[in-house]
Amino acid sequence: MPRVLVADGDPLIRRLLRRCLETDGYEVAEAEDGAGALRAIRENQAFDVLVTDQALASLTGVELIAIVQEIDPALPCLICTGKGDLELATVAMEAGAVGFVMRPFRPDHVRVAVQRAVERRRLVRETVRLRLAAPMLERFTTILANTIEAKDSQTQRHCERLVRLSDALASELGLDRQLRATVRLGACLHDVGKVGVPDLLLRKTGRLSADEWDVLRRHPEIGASLLADIDAWVEVRAIIRHHHERFDGSGYPSALAGYAIPLGARIVAVVDAFDVMRSGRPYRAARPLEQAVEELRRHRASQFDPDCVDAFLEMLAREQDGIDAVGVPTRSGLLVDELHRLRQR
Ligand SMILES: [Fe+2]
Repeated sequence: MPRVLVADGDPLIRRLLRRCLETDGYEVAEAEDGAGALRAIRENQAFDVLVTDQALASLTGVELIAIVQEIDPALPCLICTGKGDLELATVAMEAGAVGFVMRPFRPDHVRVAVQRAVERRRLVRETVRLRLAAPMLERFTTILANTIEAKDSQTQRHCERLVRLSDALASELGLDRQLRATVRLGACLHDVGKVGVPDLLLRKTGRLSADEWDVLRRHPEIGASLLADIDAWVEVRAIIRHHHERFDGSGYPSALAGYAIPLGARIVAVVDAFDVMRSGRPYRAARPLEQAVEELRRHRASQFDPDCVDAFLEMLAREQDGIDAVGVPTRSGLLVDELHRLRQR
């Protein structure tokens, strides 16, 4: 039940507002002056709306709203104004009020104003909840991905590096905040389908047979189908499903080519290949940075989106931190110059 605090020096007005709001199912608390209202809010910050008169005993309504906004910026405040009192409404809005209740009071006006304020409170709370939940979800996803990865190889923290570098590349390519979040989740979970691949196969150090490759190549589709029930993850699933497509159309599982491959999958493909080359796999030793960079350049526009490769190399060359992030020993400046030289060859 939403809770409304009514601050007004006139007991008749308080009773009138209480009756009107309680009829609509609100729980109403009263304060006869500004100090009382502040005390009630400080002692119990569970109000959803404050309705205040301007002519309070210890504080004006505008002063009360300004202080309340410092205590709880998400608490919607309404000021009671007389007809034509535009100046008061304007000053109250500047202090943080979200609306006003017109005097003389009409129950339907009071209801609409309070209802809107309550809805606003709900939306603010929902936004805050999502903002808090999103990083937790990402963290949980990383833990899940690292757990799955542990069954794949000795390579530790591949997913975390992938998330960090994919996010940096997405930013380099100018993607907005929401798309970057999708890329991070896709990068983190790109190999989640490996839960459906036998451990023996994942840990095999010798060459894989054709049949074994067929089994391994099912992991993008397995991964996408595992997350099929999460409606909001259509784009995340697309990254997982298509991260082994190749720009020239020779990849799997759908042999998509060029820009038909989702951008997130093109980003992850470049970063994943780079990190796998740098960190090695049970069946292949880690390669030096120069070789990894050369390999990306060699397969630019055949295996990889050329724009993604260019942006990634640009980013590596520019960001010393980015180079550190993938575990490359740095020699202040020299390595950056070396990368520039490789890129321009
Ligand atoms: Fe994969």
